[in-house]
Amino acid sequence: MSDDKIESILEETRRFPPNADYAKGSYVKSIDEYKAIYEESIADPPAFWANLATNLEWFSPWDTVFEWDRDEARFSWFKGGKLNACYNCLDRHVNSPRRNKAAIIWQGEREDAMKVYTYQQLLSEVERFANVLKSKGVGKGDRVSIYLPMIPELAISLLACARIGAIHSVVFAGFSSEALYNRIEDCDSKILITSDGTYRAGKTIDLKGKADEALEKSKSVTSVIMVNNTGSEVSMTAGRDFWWHEEVENADLTCPCEEMDAEDTLFILYTSGSTGKPKGVVHTTGGYLLFTMETFKNVFDYKEEDVFWCTADLGWITGHSYILYGPLAAGATSVMFEGVPTYPKPDRYWHIVEKFRVNTFYTAPTAIRSMMRLGDEWPNGRDLSSLKVLGSVGEPINPEAWMWYYNVIGHGNCAILDTWWQTETGGHMITPLPGATTLKPGSATFPYFGIEPKIIKNENEECAANEGGFLCIDKPWPGLGRTLWGDHERYKTTYWNNIKGKYFSGDGARRDEEGYIWLLGRVDDVISVAGHRIGAAEVESALVSHTDVTEAAVVPVPHDIKGEAIYAFVTLREGLEGDDDLRKALVKHVRHEVGPIATPGAIQFTDMMPKTRSGKIMRRILRKIASGDTPESLGDTSTLADPEVIDLLIANRVKQ
Ligand code: PRX
Repeated sequence: MSDDKIESILEETRRFPPNADYAKGSYVKSIDEYKAIYEESIADPPAFWANLATNLEWFSPWDTVFEWDRDEARFSWFKGGKLNACYNCLDRHVNSPRRNKAAIIWQGEREDAMKVYTYQQLLSEVERFANVLKSKGVGKGDRVSIYLPMIPELAISLLACARIGAIHSVVFAGFSSEALYNRIEDCDSKILITSDGTYRAGKTIDLKGKADEALEKSKSVTSVIMVNNTGSEVSMTAGRDFWWHEEVENADLTCPCEEMDAEDTLFILYTSGSTGKPKGVVHTTGGYLLFTMETFKNVFDYKEEDVFWCTADLGWITGHSYILYGPLAAGATSVMFEGVPTYPKPDRYWHIVEKFRVNTFYTAPTAIRSMMRLGDEWPNGRDLSSLKVLGSVGEPINPEAWMWYYNVIGHGNCAILDTWWQTETGGHMITPLPGATTLKPGSATFPYFGIEPKIIKNENEECAANEGGFLCIDKPWPGLGRTLWGDHERYKTTYWNNIKGKYFSGDGARRDEEGYIWLLGRVDDVISVAGHRIGAAEVESALVSHTDVTEAAVVPVPHDIKGEAIYAFVTLREGLEGDDDLRKALVKHVRHEVGPIATPGAIQFTDMMPKTRSGKIMRRILRKIASGDTPESLGDTSTLADPEVIDLLIANRVKQ
């Protein structure tokens, strides 16, 4: 690892203090209150978390709050304590006045497809399906792969697994059969839950065919449970494939909860690594549930009657933590949406906000930028006055998109929560709190309670104010993934061996003189121009702050003199064409915003970026395209949302 610091050159001077009236009713009402709780939380994290853990229902108490073997990168929270995640998400609310409260409001892609599940109804569905799983031989510790679109059965499947102690592994329904096969094989799943198909922007897409392809090679799966979703023609393998609706019809209505140890695995979720093989991040029952419930309540400042909507897919960690486990453990009402933001019209999200009077809306910068591109008339045509809090996750949110979100969606009344976290961290790590934090557009601001970020350079030295370095976290917290399924060595080397005793996030960051944390992108996305290490995210943010630009991705290309030069891919606002004049204007703009050192050597205009299905730009591929590599050398592109974009990008490559 290089021990150079990362240079950070962007400056942002705007400030947005919390709305005073709003702050009065929030859980954490001022920055002083935040600081007091924070200090207490890091003075003695086990005492802090043990106190909060009483907000969960335990069948029996834990033996030890926290244990940590640093050398082996093994730790535990609440070991010996017995609980059940499904019980905490459903049964305990059913035994309370929340029994008939909406737990999940499901909106299908078709406007007329809508279902509301009260806590009681959801519990009944989960119990029946848990009995179906048992009837197929699934027991405690068995793995269940789930390959479903955003339909209610997806949420029901996860909770049913949790109820009987089976370990779920959700594979995003947009993934290919090969990706599904790899994820089934890696954890040796016994069962696959899937559906005939899925809807996407008005089209029906086959899922069962892809599942069958994956299963041709798989030896572990003995039963497939199929949801009849689109009604498409599918082939059924006798003795292996069963229809969900037929199975639940014959299932018993009640199913007791398995008593799980706090450290028992709740689920595996695969995340891509820098090398090809996906990493199966292992999350636990007690620590994960506590962390997602607490962050959900405090970060979104959730109140009993609020409607919360996270637009992520349940196939990603954001969906696991903030559609399902965090909200339901907290007894919230969570919206689940099957469709895409722009279908049937570009105001679909805003229509849903209006329809359910959504109070908290949580989405990704890529969605914000694409909606910004479509014009203000779409959100302006809907009543968004119910919104109180707006969240962002997944990438740095550039100040331009931040301001649009704040003004056009929030009408200047809503806090913008730029939440930094990862699949591995389980829940929010660095984030504002709506009643307490004065916001700076583009900064994720301060650590959540109990989280101690350190920004490191030169092996293990803390950076000074405004010096960029590696973002690490001191000591494990309850929500941190415990291992990688079947490969603890890889867990150790990826997260714990880089900086001794600290969790290594792989992201670059800096802390300004007021302690605000600014994310600088993945450290592999740092570009070294004439010895200056520049975070790609900052140059991208500068490009996007130009009025003609909606999206930018910046990668290094080899350069004889400077070592590396900057190559920029730029998407323009709808209807604009890129030309040399605009190139010159953009170069001038970046020189002005960031400095001459960040001058792009080449700018390629493109209508589309190669993105993962979760909306992250695949810079690995852009790096190769920019460097003139052949299409064959691009590696696995099967996880791209839109693989055709590659040929276009190669054809339009520009010379430096
Ligand atoms: O690089 C950071 C970026 O997304 C990575 C984690 O991706 P994933 O495991 O897929 O989880 C996404 C949902 C939690 C991080 O290492 N990232 C996430 N949130 C932010 C971010 N970068 C900057 N600002 C954020 N708010």
